[in-house]
Amino acid sequence: MDKTLVVFYSYSGVCRRAAQLLASHHGWPLGEIRDARRRAGFTGGLRCVLDSLFQRRPSIRYEGPQPADFDAVVIVSPIWAYQMAGPMRTFLTQNATHLRRVAQITTMNSAGASNAVAEATRLLGGAPILTAEFLAREIEDGSGTRRLLAFGDALASASLAQPLPRRAMTEADISQPLSQ
Ligand SMILES: Cc1cc2nc3c(=O)[nH]c(=O)nc-3n(C[C@H](O)[C@H](O)[C@H](O)COP(=O)(O)O)c2cc1C
Repeated sequence: MDKTLVVFYSYSGVCRRAAQLLASHHGWPLGEIRDARRRAGFTGGLRCVLDSLFQRRPSIRYEGPQPADFDAVVIVSPIWAYQMAGPMRTFLTQNATHLRRVAQITTMNSAGASNAVAEATRLLGGAPILTAEFLAREIEDGSGTRRLLAFGDALASASLAQPLPRRAMTEADISQPLSQ
């Protein structure tokens, strides 16, 4: 894969950490999706849930390189109330026509990643080329680092001429142990 960009949204820091790890390991640039309206405290959390319940597209600010300039974009975002976090929904809606190939990483506490993949597929008009889900705990304690970096390796070695079918990362994809 020639040029890859990592774009993340993070409310409480988990996706930020995952995105930074992935980007720094591969030397890929980072882009950040931020809330246009500050999300904090009880009302901030409530807005997260309402964004999911009503499939809202909250206003965002994107800070980073233009996604259209890259062969592939890795999107990293959390699950809110079993759905893709609203700011990533906004980003995909605004950029769908500029994104050539998308790989998707989701972080969560227990469940909801499959809904986020289904929504990304719908918004993009096609499935992400590679997907992986991580528990927040795996990112926080480092137990998911090897799998995260293997995800990047799999993406980096993908041929532009032969698009990958969508699939989730499995242990079988991890051939080379990586130091954590
Ligand atoms: C409002 C809210 C709703 C959440 N809903 C879910 C959920 O439905 N399923 C789940 O597994 N985790 C849920 N989580 C946990 C987050 O997805 C998880 O902690 C994630 O790694 C946070 O990423 P971040 O720190 O980058 O924001 C929720 C978190 C918040 C703040």
